[in-house]
Amino acid sequence: MFSDRTLWNLTPNALSAHLAARRASRRPFDDLTESNPTRVGLGLAHGPAWSALAAPAVARYEPDPRGLPVAREAVCAYYAARGHALTPDDLVLTASTSEAYAWLFKLLCDAGDEVLVAHPSYPLFDDLAKLEGVTLRAVPLADEGRWELDVDALASAVTPRTRAVLIVHPNNPTGSLVSREAREALVAMCARRGLALVVDEVFGDYAWRDDRTRAGSFCDEDRALTFTLSGLSKVLAMPQLKLGWMVVRGPRALRDEAIARLDMIADSYLSVGAPVQHAAASLLAHRESVQGAIRARVAANLGALRAGLHGGSCATLLAADAGWYAMLRVPRTRSDDAWVRALLDDDDVLVQPGWFFDVPREGVLVVSLLPEEPVFARAIARVLARIDAA
Ligand SMILES: Cc1ncc(COP(=O)(O)O)c(C=O)c1O
Repeated sequence: MFSDRTLWNLTPNALSAHLAARRASRRPFDDLTESNPTRVGLGLAHGPAWSALAAPAVARYEPDPRGLPVAREAVCAYYAARGHALTPDDLVLTASTSEAYAWLFKLLCDAGDEVLVAHPSYPLFDDLAKLEGVTLRAVPLADEGRWELDVDALASAVTPRTRAVLIVHPNNPTGSLVSREAREALVAMCARRGLALVVDEVFGDYAWRDDRTRAGSFCDEDRALTFTLSGLSKVLAMPQLKLGWMVVRGPRALRDEAIARLDMIADSYLSVGAPVQHAAASLLAHRESVQGAIRARVAANLGALRAGLHGGSCATLLAADAGWYAMLRVPRTRSDDAWVRALLDDDDVLVQPGWFFDVPREGVLVVSLLPEEPVFARAIARVLARIDAA
């Protein structure tokens, strides 16, 4: 009756079952996996800015497959403020970045074709690819004290079925930005091998420092067919608004063909709502305050984490450049799942094991840097005390 694409193993893994039992017990715990900004006092606070969602223009239905010009212009203004000159013709709007992936997999791949993805990374990619009949081939990031894109490994993984390379820049959860050097090699490899480049930049506004050795946005990359993805989910910390986009750039003929085909895909769904498109300019005008609050939260929590590690803890913070997460290297005296269980059961703190993001080895825990400062400070103190007592 059902498709193989939806043949999932729906049995919860042991850790999920353990967590469900803990939640059912109603005994509270501090959640260091919380990465929904709207649950931790972040994102655009409800107020006058929201009235743009009910502008009179919303009453008319005048769809445009690529997204209403007024919304694409607002996205161009966002990039212009970051120093990138785009035109509305470079943009295709989607309801979310996840939807952009689905459209790109339809655009680039037939069933059984492959997309290379640098791992560890965002776990949803596996399901998004499976739903389109696409095979994701994971190529590990090099782990040399910091996570670096390994372009030679990507090049070696290319097969006749490979259609695209997917990177997250900055990556989630490693927080690593691609170096300038790796960017040059990657773009040259994609151009030479006829591969599309998909660059997820949803965390692009959340660098922890200015580092000239790291590459900037790929949004105006023209040497290979390049799709740069982002959206309000992270730019305004408002996933519920459902507005994402892809910037389509590359050699002229390829880019034009890609846009023409995306037009057809987008026209088949017309999934982006009119209210958010008409409100995009007004909402994006508030991004500095939203992002400023998130940067301050992340900096404060990172500070608390670093202070806790300072006194000779046996945990270490993995080097990163950006984003909303921190990865901790912990002793391999027990499995990552055993650390997660011990922290939850004995210390009332929830963290994530590295394997959840396909970290290829034990001894890595992942924490969100978004929880409110007092919650983060008390919880991370208990995490470090547990690790150092072991
Ligand atoms: C790297 C990355 N890409 C995409 C998304 C999904 O974004 P959207 O809400 O636009 O689908 C997330 C969400 O956390 C993410 O971490």
